[in-house]
Amino acid sequence: MKKLNSIILSGKEVLPLIEGGKGINASNGYSSGAWARENCVGTFSGVTPDVLDNNGNVIMESFKTKKRLDRHEELVEYAIQGGISQAKLAYEISGGNGRIHMNMLWELADSQKMIESILEGSKGLINGVTCGAGLPYQLAELTSKFGVYYYPIVSSARAFQILWKRAYAKCPEFLGGVVYEDPWLAGGHNGLSNAENPNEPEVPYNRLVELRKTLRTIGLEKTPIILAGGIWNLTDWEDYIDNPEIGDIAFQLGTRPMLTVESPISDAWKQLLLNVKKGDVILQKFSPTGFYSSAINNAFLAKLIERKNNEIEYKSEPDAEFSCALSLNAARSVYIKPQDMQKAQNQIDAGLSVVQETPDNTVVFLTPADWQQMKIDRAECAGCLSQCQFSTWSKATLSTGKLPDPRTYCIHKTLYDGGHGGDVQNNLIFAGHQVYRFADDPMYKEGIPTTKELVEALLRGE
Ligand SMILES: Cc1cc2nc3c(=O)[nH]c(=O)nc-3n(C[C@H](O)[C@H](O)[C@H](O)COP(=O)(O)O)c2cc1C
Ligand code: SF4
Repeated sequence: MKKLNSIILSGKEVLPLIEGGKGINASNGYSSGAWARENCVGTFSGVTPDVLDNNGNVIMESFKTKKRLDRHEELVEYAIQGGISQAKLAYEISGGNGRIHMNMLWELADSQKMIESILEGSKGLINGVTCGAGLPYQLAELTSKFGVYYYPIVSSARAFQILWKRAYAKCPEFLGGVVYEDPWLAGGHNGLSNAENPNEPEVPYNRLVELRKTLRTIGLEKTPIILAGGIWNLTDWEDYIDNPEIGDIAFQLGTRPMLTVESPISDAWKQLLLNVKKGDVILQKFSPTGFYSSAINNAFLAKLIERKNNEIEYKSEPDAEFSCALSLNAARSVYIKPQDMQKAQNQIDAGLSVVQETPDNTVVFLTPADWQQMKIDRAECAGCLSQCQFSTWSKATLSTGKLPDPRTYCIHKTLYDGGHGGDVQNNLIFAGHQVYRFADDPMYKEGIPTTKELVEALLRGE
């Protein structure tokens, strides 16, 4: 295994190893502080980070107001206080070593306000902000004014070029690096474009070379590229190290750091990770953000897949093709093709008796209990996203004007629950596609390693 040399990240010489940010509460002050302590970069999630009281105990998020817009304001205030809490915790644990970054999902409603207020309230503690999901044009200006480095997460050289031309060229000083997140391999939301096929992965090498060429043409020869997605050990990626075609590189791991002593996820989640098999992670598009994402195919995801597989096309008025009436309720029917009638009846007979329209002129079938829960989740929406396909909340206009999509779910509720000890079968559990390697990697036969042990193993190429 080649020696991994230090590089400059966020203004300091550190090992080129980064713990990726993971919301909600799958990376926090404990985990990021531990990575920084090892002279690496730790990234806590800025998505609903836990607020801590003076004794370090978590004050769970809860809403006091009745209106959605007011709950949204409560959520934003909680996230700001939480970000400050986690930054302090991370810094304390790091002992001043390494670098501490915060990750923000750009498509959160008021993400800019959150970044700004967290940086304001934690001056000197956060060294960099990574940001993906969407095109975070204003990120550069936002962090630069605090002297904090920014790291856009992209999945192509073209995406970076757009960001650079439109915004980042004005703030080159604090561009800390560009994260290339492999959309076919990384856990969590990813930037698979409409032109890319989820079933036809492309190896990152050529895409990284392309990114480096783009960086060189604009004078960013020395700006590090951070490779994220599918990294288990560095032996697999030796060709990428000290490679003049790629230039300075750092490696960001999201999934593997979750199985460490300092990782905040529950023991049940850790056990689940140890038992995942190859192929159990699915790249799908059920997130209410509209983005693709990769998660473990547990009961939560299986239900969404089944619902989607059994959806049926309809028209509001009958015609020669859509000639069979399907009752939605006592007052309304839609019309489906005769050949779909049996499919509809089978689902109703199986107890999926609530028929719901989607925004794409299809209907899906739900159990009365699932429908009841869906109504509760929509009523309790706290407006976390700038636009939500599940509840139709939109920060800008209060409603997207579309039908709520019953093929999606409240991502805030399920990630919050999963990230705070909730059931790992009936919540969304993001994971990268290499997660099955926990089961066979000898390191985990001995138990769960500390972050220090994991970093040492990574440096040995293990
Ligand atoms: C549970 C989980 C949650 C994640 N949450 C986020 C997130 O909120 N924002 C983000 O930009 N990336 C998120 N990621 C992506 C990671 O930061 C990282 O880039 C990715 O996991 C790297 O790929 P790997 O999982 O193959 O190591 C998440 C990943 C996982 C596994
Ligand atoms: S319904 Fe949508 S916008 Fe509302 S809290 Fe859930 S995920 Fe966020």
